[in-house]
Amino acid sequence: MNRLSILIILATLTQAQDATILRPMNQTVIPAGPLTIAAKGPASAKLTLDAKPIESQQPAPGIHTATIKPDPGTHELALGTAKVQFAVGTGPAEWKAFRQHPPTAQCTTCHAIKSGEWAFRTEKLADTCAGCHDLKTFPKTHNHNTEILKDCQECHMPHGSTEKSHLKWNKETACKLCHG
Ligand code: HEC
Ligand code: HEC
Ligand code: HEC
Ligand code: HEC
Repeated sequence: MNRLSILIILATLTQAQDATILRPMNQTVIPAGPLTIAAKGPASAKLTLDAKPIESQQPAPGIHTATIKPDPGTHELALGTAKVQFAVGTGPAEWKAFRQHPPTAQCTTCHAIKSGEWAFRTEKLADTCAGCHDLKTFPKTHNHNTEILKDCQECHMPHGSTEKSHLKWNKETACKLCHG
């Protein structure tokens, strides 16, 4: 394969991945009530629910959000090339329950716009988390202090997940990130 074809493949891959819906996750079931969407994609892209445009905001260019109260049943949310299916109330048996984290917080609880870019509100992410979580027990549950395990998002899904403790991996795999 020559260099040009590699570049073309890379460009195509980047294009296909240029939109991502972070919340809700694909093929999950959420409880009835408000759902705050978190997504990123081209500034020109529009969020749609069941193929109809929804009223949304862009707190920073390319960062898309909207708070919706979808009816019970199955829905499809899309942003550009990104699509997720979710159900309200009950859904297909193989879909898992999705919990928003934190259920009622605003994007600005954790994020801020710095020099026009979507960034974090505090220098150290753990300081944001400590606003709601008592991190005194942290060393006991994590075997380390928040200096060594400062990148909470390496193991936790910050917008919510289907797993216990909003984990990306089980404890064994999480420790192996450094203790391979
Ligand atoms: C509890 C804190 C928290 C809240 C609340 C939160 N986020 Fe995030 N967000 C994070 C963290 C931490 C990351 C980094 C995730 C990673 O690296 O896996 C992130 C990453 C992102 C990204 C990806 C940024 C990139 O450059 O890839 C987007 C987009 C985003 N958040 C949008 C939102 C929106 C929109 C909201 C409100 C609906 C929101 N977030 C609410 C903590 C939060
Ligand atoms: C605005 C308050 C708030 C902030 C800020 C916050 N959380 Fe939370 N978090 C909560 C609440 C409330 C819950 C319980 C939600 C539920 O019932 O699922 C929770 C649950 C969790 C859980 C799951 C705990 C369990 O036992 O299932 C983890 C892990 C977590 N948060 C990590 C973080 C991390 C990491 C950050 C910083 C990026 C953070 N949180 C910031 C309020 C917050
Ligand atoms: C190396 C992976 C890893 C990192 C990094 C990490 N955690 Fe965790 N976290 C875990 C695991 C594993 C559990 C589940 C522990 C258990 O159930 O025994 C957990 C559980 C939690 C819980 C629920 C249990 C409790 O202690 O209340 C909270 C809250 C939490 N983490 C917050 C954070 C915050 C805040 C950060 C960043 C400062 C962070 N975590 C960084 C792996 C990690
Ligand atoms: C971000 C990297 C990182 C992750 C993830 C991590 N550790 Fe560590 N760990 C370290 C570093 C660096 C040291 C040595 C410094 C120290 O002892 O504080 C260490 C030391 C240790 C030690 C002391 C014994 C020794 O080998 O020196 C234990 C026990 C330990 N880690 C357990 C864990 C467990 C359990 C987890 C999963 C919850 C985990 N670690 C995840 C970086 C990490």
